[in-house]
Amino acid sequence: MIVVGSDHAGFRYKEMIKKHLGDVIDAGTFSEESCDYPAVAREVAQKIVSGKAQRGILVCGTGQGMAMAANKVKGIRAAVCGDTFSAKASRAHNNANILCLGARVVGEGLALEIVDAWLKAEFEAGRHTRRVEMIDD
Ligand code: RB5
Repeated sequence: MIVVGSDHAGFRYKEMIKKHLGDVIDAGTFSEESCDYPAVAREVAQKIVSGKAQRGILVCGTGQGMAMAANKVKGIRAAVCGDTFSAKASRAHNNANILCLGARVVGEGLALEIVDAWLKAEFEAGRHTRRVEMIDD
């Protein structure tokens, strides 16, 4: 299961991603009214560490605040991606479990391509496993 979340700046993109993916958990926000992104990042991160979802997508203006907040939760590896190469590598090498997007940075078409590339890519394990374990430690 995938969990999605955004603040007001990312709301429109979250709705677009929901429509694109279909069956997801929506952790909010639910309008363009101003809200605080750390609360949403925490909600999405907790859905993942509790096992209710396996991967998450967070959208704010830049993706940066969401990533900073989500990465405070043990077990979360959130990556800000503005291109498909980084999106694939964040899965293949870093086993990212949250993708963070900046709605004020990437266009809608690119955002959906990044989402697809990230969801399709698998962790390559091997030499990367030790490094990811070092992050989690
Ligand atoms: C909201 O104005 C903006 O600060 C937020 O969406 C995000 O970009 C923070 O990192």
